[in-house]
Amino acid sequence: MKSNLQVAIDGPASAGKSTVAKKVAHLLDYVYCDTGAMYRAVTWAALQQKVPLDNDAALKELLTNLKIVFKPADDGQKVFVDGEDVTAAIRMPEISKNVSLVAAQISVREALTKKQQELALDGGIVMDGRDIGTTVLPDAEVKIFLVASVKERALRRFREDQAKGIKVDLSELEKEIALRDKKDSTRLISPLVQAKDAIKVDTTSLTIEQVVAKIMEIIKKNN
Ligand code: DC
Repeated sequence: MKSNLQVAIDGPASAGKSTVAKKVAHLLDYVYCDTGAMYRAVTWAALQQKVPLDNDAALKELLTNLKIVFKPADDGQKVFVDGEDVTAAIRMPEISKNVSLVAAQISVREALTKKQQELALDGGIVMDGRDIGTTVLPDAEVKIFLVASVKERALRRFREDQAKGIKVDLSELEKEIALRDKKDSTRLISPLVQAKDAIKVDTTSLTIEQVVAKIMEIIKKNN
């Protein structure tokens, strides 16, 4: 198998993308890039600097000087914005609630897409997000579209948040996930849609290990 493939893993919120993508990257000895974390980092910075989240021009300005850096850590990856560790902060409910709005702004999408394309230039990368197979890396050798029912995804997020000590209500989470799906899939630029050449994997009744095995099989079969 080639050592410089581009592997795109897209899908809705909490379908298990980042957990699975991280493991696949590790097995292949590839770089892992969590593009959702980039949109979250911009949202965090905009809230900090009180930039209106729907003001495309102001966000463009914010992005010209913003440094988003990923650093490998024992438990995965740390995210830094202008040198500040925001790994935990970007997972807080306030960010989850506001990130769709920021991700719908043209300047933000253009700037982050460019950054993601640069990161993937030499291949050897597993990138997860919403528009990787369709827009960021349309020529990726491997495209996976991960899905799971809203109920199952809410339950997964509920358990994750509980483990982190974040208090959440399961039915609220279900509503939030359904709303985020709607916003992400109906926005004008780069909406969440399955690329024509992507392979759909439904994770609803599968364990993480089973999903990882399925994806590794797809990668090996096609390369
Ligand atoms: O995967 P996540 O929940 O961390 O993503 C956060 C938000 O960012 C989500 O609302 C969709 C958006 N996003 C996007 O629009 N494009 C991407 N490539 C990745 C994430």
